[in-house]
Amino acid sequence: MSGKLITFEGGDGAGKTTQVALLSATLRAKGVNVLVTREPGGTEIGERIRDLILHDPVTLVTAAELLLIFAARAQHIVEVIRPALARDKWVLCDRFTDATFAYQGGGRGVPAERVTQLESIVHHGLQPDLTLLLDLPVTEGMARSVARGKGEDRFESQDVAFKERIRATYLARQASAAHRIRLVDASAQIEVVQAQIKKLVLQVLEP
Ligand SMILES: Nc1ncnc2c1ncn2[C@@H]1O[C@H](COP(=O)(O)OP(=O)(O)O)[C@@H](O)[C@H]1O
Ligand SMILES: [Mg+2]
Repeated sequence: MSGKLITFEGGDGAGKTTQVALLSATLRAKGVNVLVTREPGGTEIGERIRDLILHDPVTLVTAAELLLIFAARAQHIVEVIRPALARDKWVLCDRFTDATFAYQGGGRGVPAERVTQLESIVHHGLQPDLTLLLDLPVTEGMARSVARGKGEDRFESQDVAFKERIRATYLARQASAAHRIRLVDASAQIEVVQAQIKKLVLQVLEP
């Protein structure tokens, strides 16, 4: 495999979706074959699971939420990500398994070992080549999400303490895997964040 898997992480409103679009345009202009995708989602069944997880008012116990996320991810890896990597594509994924450690682990209190067990079942060794952690104070992310104005999903409607645990878990993971997960200051202007990301991507993936 000589494709690349680049994942974007961070709290809601950090700018992930914005920056995925900008990086994909930059890479395409350089002639890279890019595939943009997201989690939960990225496949037909995955997008249906996404709706259940994010937007359906149905009650989900934590284990059900966790398993649904990994069910969607299993389909995504086999149906979309691995085939794209095998065809040398650069896959830009808006959230991936670090988000599960942050949201279901840090946010919901699932032990990290349990997330790791599911990761090993579903990933079969797949890891991102590079993860960009867009870090932003929680209140700033919330203000941006409100300004974006699409309503709140299941996680956006959680309290500030939940979001602070997510941020802290992301930062701890970044510190413990600093080679793969690069910290990006997401509080800067869009163009400044874009420049940070472009530099990191070229530095790490085109040494
Ligand atoms: N660096 C930035 N500075 C100010 N606003 C931003 C920045 N990046 C994104 N935004 C805006 O904040 C909102 C959330 O951005 P988005 O890319 O949807 O975040 P995410 O996908 O991480 O939730 C959008 O309205 C977007 O235009
Ligand atoms: Mg987004």
